[in-house]
Amino acid sequence: MSALFEPLTLRTLTIPNRVWMSSMCQYSAPVEGPDQGVPGDWHLTHLGARAVGGAGLVMTEATAVTPEGRISPADLGLWNDRQQEGFARIARFLREHGAVPGVQLAHAGRKASTDVTWRGGAPVGPDRHGWRPVGPSPIPFTDAHQVPAELTLDQIQGVVESFAAAARRALAAGFQVAEVHGAHGYLVHQFLSPYSNHRTDAYGGSFENRTRLALEVVDAVRAVWPDDLPVFFRVSATDWLSENPEDGRQGWTADETVRLAKVLLTHGVDLLDTSTGGIAVGARIATGPGYQVPFAARVKAETDLPVAAVGEITDPHQAEEIVASGRADAVLIGRELLREPYWPNRAARELGATGRWPDQYHRAV
Ligand SMILES: Cc1cc2nc3c(=O)[nH]c(=O)nc-3n(C[C@H](O)[C@H](O)[C@H](O)COP(=O)(O)O)c2cc1C
Repeated sequence: MSALFEPLTLRTLTIPNRVWMSSMCQYSAPVEGPDQGVPGDWHLTHLGARAVGGAGLVMTEATAVTPEGRISPADLGLWNDRQQEGFARIARFLREHGAVPGVQLAHAGRKASTDVTWRGGAPVGPDRHGWRPVGPSPIPFTDAHQVPAELTLDQIQGVVESFAAAARRALAAGFQVAEVHGAHGYLVHQFLSPYSNHRTDAYGGSFENRTRLALEVVDAVRAVWPDDLPVFFRVSATDWLSENPEDGRQGWTADETVRLAKVLLTHGVDLLDTSTGGIAVGARIATGPGYQVPFAARVKAETDLPVAAVGEITDPHQAEEIVASGRADAVLIGRELLREPYWPNRAARELGATGRWPDQYHRAV
């Protein structure tokens, strides 16, 4: 018996296995015109291939809730009808092929308005479809980035409402899981971390104040997401500053993640997608196979919130051990699934479990 290929039920949704596709930006949407931010053939093929490959859940890339919340001008968005229609086609295909469709709702904050990564990811201005980013405080991500405009209290409420509106559209498009992107140095994380949040109002300072935006966004998404369907939260469990005391900078810590996880549970979050990093340039990250699993395992051990582990999980037996040992309820696979869309079905074969090959391919199985 393989633990990795056991179904997982969250609320009333049964996810057929515990090998899921992690959210990965493709920077491949039209940057202007009526199809700006609309998922097209590339996105359908890219996400659809991973459903055909046997992933239990397929998470969209970071999907911006407002135009200025895009990381790059070529990001996907979910603030208008055309985008919703594009996503409906994808969600339908994923479900037809047995995968649960998940949408990652995101706002890039001060890390917005950058070029696509394969051209270096440098900040872009209005001459290259860019814009002025916003953030909790007027502190740029790097010296090369624009200084973000500090969000007013009214604008913060606008951001919260945009998450709710995008969640409503995601539901109408057929998604079954909504994930709030609270990680990797993007807007929600920028509020969580004292490294990027220097506000002195109700959204900065104490743990309660720094987590306020995250909880307001979760509440707003939860309010429109049906009671029988799960909401995930992706967190950067640490900024990798407290782990390196010689760094001297202060950031979000693993202790705070455990504390937040307990609060998220009371706000109706069903799973913590546990990543790390992304807020502080130059933070020393101890990478290696499964390097983020201990952070997920700690939340799992110290709270009642289900967790998913991610990061350098590339081997079927490694993935099986993470779930079978109870360190995480599921694993998310990123780059290995880019290299090999059929990884889940291959893992099933290696672990003696039943994969999910499409009927059309039965002569190859
Ligand atoms: C091309 C690419 C794009 C990514 N885009 C996102 C994203 O949109 N949202 C997100 O939360 N993480 C994003 N990530 C991070 C992945 O979801 C994952 O957490 C990370 O790659 C570590 O997992 P891996 O070692 O299996 O690749 C991206 C990673 C890659 C390689």
